[in-house]
Amino acid sequence: MIINPTSGAAPTIPTTKQSSFSMVLIISAVAALAGLLFGYDTGVISGAILFIKPQFQLSPTLEEIVVGAALIGAVIGAFGSGRLADHFGRRRLILVTAGIFVVASLCSALATSVSVLVAGRILIGVAIGVASFVAPLYISEIAPPERRGALVALNQLAITAGILLSYIVDTVLASSENWQMMIGIGVVPAVILGIGIYFLPESPRWLLAHKSRGEAEGALRQIRGQRSNATSINTELDSMEHAMSEAGNKKEGGWKELLSLRWVRPLLICGFGLAIFQQVTGINTVIYYAPTIFKFAGFQSAMGSILATAGVGVVNMLMTVVSILVLDRLGRRPLLMGGLIGMIISLFALGFGFYIGGEAMKWIGVCSLAVYIGSFAISLGPIFWLLIAEIYPLQVRGLAMSAATMVCWIANLAVSITFLTLIEALGRANTFWFYGALSVAALIFSYFYVPETKGISLEAIEEHCRARKPLRELGR
Ligand code: BGC
Repeated sequence: MIINPTSGAAPTIPTTKQSSFSMVLIISAVAALAGLLFGYDTGVISGAILFIKPQFQLSPTLEEIVVGAALIGAVIGAFGSGRLADHFGRRRLILVTAGIFVVASLCSALATSVSVLVAGRILIGVAIGVASFVAPLYISEIAPPERRGALVALNQLAITAGILLSYIVDTVLASSENWQMMIGIGVVPAVILGIGIYFLPESPRWLLAHKSRGEAEGALRQIRGQRSNATSINTELDSMEHAMSEAGNKKEGGWKELLSLRWVRPLLICGFGLAIFQQVTGINTVIYYAPTIFKFAGFQSAMGSILATAGVGVVNMLMTVVSILVLDRLGRRPLLMGGLIGMIISLFALGFGFYIGGEAMKWIGVCSLAVYIGSFAISLGPIFWLLIAEIYPLQVRGLAMSAATMVCWIANLAVSITFLTLIEALGRANTFWFYGALSVAALIFSYFYVPETKGISLEAIEEHCRARKPLRELGR
């Protein structure tokens, strides 16, 4: 199919009926191991710190530094690597990130001094920061449009699995006090990720922009399966080429393009806004401090807290599966709105439970936290990562995604270090009502700024935005 690069719409991409879905699934699952490492390495420290603290006789400040080091590293990693993804390619960056995970996990697990431990944890954070955006970016670029939601959300499923796995490993190893093993186990998925990604193809979109059509075609054929027909492969490549010619065939852009292009601004507002709201609505107060919250709610025994915490992990994972099953059918917007409404109701209920206190609080606490986690897991959890992998133009996709990711990690850090102070200053009820009020703001923001991208190719999304049509009209 011949496309006139200067006129006409992008060709329509054929659906996966003609393509091999299992290959796409395997590639996405391997890339999603980066999500597993993100979840595992952020979660594992809550259990490990209990034993690190006495071994190194940590002061409260040093304890906070050890716990927060990975978050600081993640901000640095996300900040520094966007252009690398655009310049060197998505696959190569994942490969290097897997290597950093291995080195950093070994360095932290074998640390005999606090400074080496902190350096190791910062390095793990750097890898988490890079992995958190480059894996969804890679998956979104190899996925067929009508399954892209589910495939990118696999990464979020892997994050939740990693968090749950870290809770389990921490609990199992608690009796031996073996914090080295808790952290060191992270090496295993990192090695598998490295080996797996080594054998996978580079993103055809990146190859087309940076190498040749022939190389892009080879990769696409590998992804869509050898039996896929030549016409569908060519149509897909034509569509990508068309979008590139609209962008003036420029391979990649820098901060200047990102900040000066007026049509990209609504996309930046959307991505940065969702990044902030994903965090300031309080998810990691529950993920990182679940045992503390359950203690506040009246579960005094350690076993009760551990079981309740494991429950949080399981609900998080199961509801992410639900999200994966319906994302490409219901669409992003209805799920996002519905989930946010669930988060608002449960946060206000939790605050109310703390307000009235007493025995009833225990059960209000458990039920509202379950609804809260479930609502996050079907909405803001996967949908933030999915949308930032979909809405930015190819030229600056890596850079823009990494910027949104950095905003997300800064907001994460801010919420994590202020949570206990907020509880002291405002009290328990007001703190959760505060997160509830921020969730109301997130709902209003999403209503006005978040587009529907269900079933639309990345090139068609880019074309819509480049034509300066309102973002909200996308998908209507
Ligand atoms: C968020 C993390 C959070 C996790 C919980 C992710 O999407 O970015 O901050 O801990 O979801 O499942």
